[in-house]
Amino acid sequence: MIRPTELSDSYGRSMRDLRVSLTDRCNFRCLYCLPETEEAANFYRGKFDALRNPAPAKLRPPEWKPRSEILSFEEIERFVRLAAALGIQKIRLTGGEPLLRQGIEILVAKLAKIEGIADLALTTNGFLFAKKAEALRAAGLHRISFSLDSLDRDNFKKMTGRDGLKEVLAGIALAQELGLNPVKVNAVVIRGINDHEIERLAELARDRNLSFRFIEFMPLDSGRAWLKELVVPGKEILARLQAEFALQPALPSNPAETARRWSFADGRGEIGIIAPVTEPFCGHCNRIRLTADGKIRTCLFSLHEHDMKGLMRAGVSDAELTEQLRAIVWQKEDRHHIGEPEFVQPERTMSCIGG
Ligand code: 5AD
Ligand code: SF4
Repeated sequence: MIRPTELSDSYGRSMRDLRVSLTDRCNFRCLYCLPETEEAANFYRGKFDALRNPAPAKLRPPEWKPRSEILSFEEIERFVRLAAALGIQKIRLTGGEPLLRQGIEILVAKLAKIEGIADLALTTNGFLFAKKAEALRAAGLHRISFSLDSLDRDNFKKMTGRDGLKEVLAGIALAQELGLNPVKVNAVVIRGINDHEIERLAELARDRNLSFRFIEFMPLDSGRAWLKELVVPGKEILARLQAEFALQPALPSNPAETARRWSFADGRGEIGIIAPVTEPFCGHCNRIRLTADGKIRTCLFSLHEHDMKGLMRAGVSDAELTEQLRAIVWQKEDRHHIGEPEFVQPERTMSCIGG
């Protein structure tokens, strides 16, 4: 079969966006990702009693991968160079928490120089950002996304397992001072936990001129406690915001955009709503993911991974690696099956997959 020269799949989608997880480790324990704290356990217990469902799996401390199993900077750089030659234009560095990876600025500098990479972004929980900010900027990082689920110190702690609201807010302000604009901020909305803060978070976006994203809770948590009752549908989030603010729809910047965006009629900043559960956008997906241990995932919800690290360490040539990657992407799944009876939650959580 003759295949197009780029990274295309059998449904006619062309991959442009590669998300690279730099580590599976994290210094936070978010409820929707790596819940581990007593508070997280209490939350899940309470929710499950109320919904009369079987108890979720016991919350276990995460088991991190040994360093030898994590891709080296050289391996990541090689992979990104090959992917860029096949049409990948955007790289997003994620984790776990990518700022836990020592010398991350060295990798950023290497990736920023690769021909074809037009956009180099980072997703962080922000706790360590102040320490690394200048170095990352100097290395050539273009953009940054923070996670911020609550503006209430106690609720922030309940959601992330850490008392870090002050540091994260300071990190966001610093990114803006350094001109990493537009600074994006993500909040995962969970019913009964932080949905009462939606308006306050939008207010912050307007006050601070942020690009603020509300994300539906997806079944990717290590506690396996996801229930559709905990998802606040994007439409409901929008209705609540429209009741409070005059919003104008923003034009999508590209068809693969996951967020539906709105600007404030009377001010700066914008909000976006990402509704993968209730309004899937798989049809336009142009993303693939490389896990910290060197596996390709063609979907967040893939049940199979493809081992690139093994191939690289076995000494395969660039040409062979390229051919493998093309064949893998060709098999990308058409869509996720959340909410359908046959849905199976992937074994790995967002902390391994990379958001
Ligand atoms: N559902 C939705 N978003 C999630 N993230 C992590 N886990 C989940 C989940 N279960 C998001 C966080 C973070 C990004 C890396 O991934 O908001 O911003
Ligand atoms: Fe860490 Fe991000 Fe997962 Fe929270 S969502 S535990 S910050 S990897």
